[in-house]
Amino acid sequence: MQNQQTFRPCDLVIYGALGDLSTRKLIASLYRLEKAGLIEDDTQITGVDLHDKTSTEFIEIAQQSLQKFLNETLDPTVWKQFSARLAYLKIDLTKKQQYKKLASRVDAEKRDLINYFSVAPFLFKHICQGLNQSGILNKRSKVVVEKPLGHDLKSSQEINDAFAEVFNEDQIYRIDHYLGKETVLNLLALRFANSIFTSNWDHNTIDSIQITVSEEVGIEGRWGYFDHTGQTRDMLQNHLLQILTFIAMEPPVNLEAKSIRREKVKVLEALRPITASNVSKKTVRGQYTSGFLNGAAVPGYLEEEGANTESTNESFVAIRVDIDNWRWADVPFYLRTGKRMQSKRTEIVINFKQLPHNIFKDSFQDLPANKLVIHLQKQEGVEVHMLNKVPSLDGNIKLQKTKLDLSFSDSGKEKPVFGGYERLMLETMRSNPTLFLSREEIEQAWTWVDSIQDAWVHQNESPKPYPAGSWGPVASVALLARDGRNWEE
Ligand code: BG6
Repeated sequence: MQNQQTFRPCDLVIYGALGDLSTRKLIASLYRLEKAGLIEDDTQITGVDLHDKTSTEFIEIAQQSLQKFLNETLDPTVWKQFSARLAYLKIDLTKKQQYKKLASRVDAEKRDLINYFSVAPFLFKHICQGLNQSGILNKRSKVVVEKPLGHDLKSSQEINDAFAEVFNEDQIYRIDHYLGKETVLNLLALRFANSIFTSNWDHNTIDSIQITVSEEVGIEGRWGYFDHTGQTRDMLQNHLLQILTFIAMEPPVNLEAKSIRREKVKVLEALRPITASNVSKKTVRGQYTSGFLNGAAVPGYLEEEGANTESTNESFVAIRVDIDNWRWADVPFYLRTGKRMQSKRTEIVINFKQLPHNIFKDSFQDLPANKLVIHLQKQEGVEVHMLNKVPSLDGNIKLQKTKLDLSFSDSGKEKPVFGGYERLMLETMRSNPTLFLSREEIEQAWTWVDSIQDAWVHQNESPKPYPAGSWGPVASVALLARDGRNWEE
């Protein structure tokens, strides 16, 4: 291990090691950390699943997954070192007795035990109880768990209760992989390290804020999960609300988990409820029909493999969010996210207010207001949309629109760019919970989202159709047009 930051060796146990998340993302992320010299020498990785496999077979599966998903050739030296850490245990996670097998492999006194739950939620409780009975846990043991953490407030409370029976809150690392993205973290730096933004970040200077998370992918064989989840629970309840809290929160006292989480919860508490009385004005649900994406024909939602042709589930949602606190009074946040949209884009647009008086009418009847545009993906970067003078000897001052590019990609060029999972794995090994969600945050987010879901049930309307490859239903344009605004395109 070349890294100077000290953290203890770990026993990382991945439950559901042969599943999609593990083989696509987790193993690749761990390999990249190995390559970067960021895994402690004595760390071991154990795959647990229901299937009959030997450790040698598991290592072969890991190698094949890396060849498929890594987008780079395996480095033989790194692979040798990495594969030596791997082993496999067959455990039926619903059978408490079988957890004893873990004792042959892990040693929580010598290495911190990290239990990564990469399994369906119905198994969470079984694993907690199985681990509890196995006698291998201690106070340093951790559990890492992925969304979906419930389907609504009640089911998320049940999951959290199951964890709480066995683990203390500080042992639970709840992942939202957006919090592992470089640019989401850069929001903290942008906001709290730069006085030009800090002093211009409220209702006095900001007119409105947009958050767009558009995806090109459709359901990709995930009908069973997605059709009873929908884009609101799949993306808005977590990823978009997390971005929103980073934009809207008050300055935390410091960078410690409890300070940041406290400020995020306050934002979530201040979200104005959306209920049956205002849901049709404030939200738009959409469902994609067939269309074209990148020149190829793609099926509609109801034509996807395994589809229920009667489904009224949403694959798109747009919402006007109001935050009832001092800082954000009368500043709407417009959120939209959808599958099968024109391009993959995660973007935040901060629209500043127009100036009170225009002395440049020769150039613009209405002086365009400044914008701060933060691109999270595909490219990362930050731009300020401004006006400046057209260079000339002309006696009149003529203005032109210009973009000030504040991209930091060049400054980070020499460093390897890691994905969210690498960062989150590393932070777990470092026992730093800052980038993980607290129970309170998740439950507060569900409380707000549940009210919207109830209002939709009451409204009883089908989602608005939108062709795959577009920017969503026309009604989502009308959502902003009603307020005299439009989406940033
Ligand atoms: C996941 C959702 O959490 O995020 C998926 O379950 C979605 O439906 C994915 O496609 C998007 O993640 P990213 O990092 O590609 O924007």
